[in-house]
Amino acid sequence: MAHESVLLKEVIEGLDLQDGDVYFDATVGSGGHMHAVWEATKGKVQLYGIDADEMSVAISKEKLELAGAKPKLMVLNFKNIERAPEVFGIVPTKILFDLGWSSDQFEEGGRGFSFQKDEPLIMTFKSNTDEEDTTAYDVVNKWSEDSLVSILQGYGEERYAKRIAKSIVSARKLKPIETSKTLAEIVKNAVPVFYRFGRIHPATRTFQAIRIAVNDELNALQEGLKKGFQILKQDGRMAVISFHSLEDRIVKNFFKLLSSEDQAEIITKKPIVATEEELIRNPRARSAKLRIIKKISI
Ligand SMILES: C[S@@+](CC[C@H](N)C(=O)[O-])C[C@H]1O[C@@H](n2cnc3c(N)ncnc32)[C@H](O)[C@@H]1O
Repeated sequence: MAHESVLLKEVIEGLDLQDGDVYFDATVGSGGHMHAVWEATKGKVQLYGIDADEMSVAISKEKLELAGAKPKLMVLNFKNIERAPEVFGIVPTKILFDLGWSSDQFEEGGRGFSFQKDEPLIMTFKSNTDEEDTTAYDVVNKWSEDSLVSILQGYGEERYAKRIAKSIVSARKLKPIETSKTLAEIVKNAVPVFYRFGRIHPATRTFQAIRIAVNDELNALQEGLKKGFQILKQDGRMAVISFHSLEDRIVKNFFKLLSSEDQAEIITKKPIVATEEELIRNPRARSAKLRIIKKISI
């Protein structure tokens, strides 16, 4: 199933697009939001974007060019977002972060994001990893039991963190844990029976925690937001869609800080969430929260 972008209408309205805007997508992904910006503005707004994942940049470039747009895209982690405007020679007036992964990465990436597939444990957003990159395999097979407990609790908010970490360490003593399905089975067998039949798969939180650790997502978000705000033009807007409470807390606190220092005006007093109609169409929108700020001119 192709990636379905969340809160499209809300993002377009919230960014308050104007002729001459420089739209900068910090997570271009499958190009869904950028395509919607293009459709809404056709040629009146310049399109720029980055993504840590080479595959996503290629997919979105093709999609947008087919639609007649000519976006300028590059592969870059948003923790280094300030490098892109330098390369492109621009000052963004609207910036969007749509966090997490896209369904295309989940379904076609072959990187072990999904516990429903039997894939190697990689979980990096980058599609081409090199020697220095930490992968899910490293986390699962090399990190200490205490570190596993710590990420399962901190990044997964997993109540059975200790039991799961213990089972992972026991299993890897016999042989390395190589695939997403093997890991999912270990987790399933580590938790109480009732937990196996809950609303979400028992391995959901474990996979979330490992993915956050592998990509150092929370630090990248903090850096990305800070630098994103620095490169944003005065009177420009920055919108962020988050998918879990850890991310949303970082966004909320950062926006509050900027507002308390009179650097920004908070446009969304409360986060915007998906309508019932969108939730029926796209269950992934269930946890999405959109927050927007406007940079105040000094
Ligand atoms: C939810 S998807 C974006 C979907 C996109 N808005 C769309 O409508 O098609 C999130 C994207 O962010 C990218 N990503 C996650 N963390 C990143 C980071 N630190 N730097 C750059 N890209 C990142 C992922 O590779 C993924 O493609």
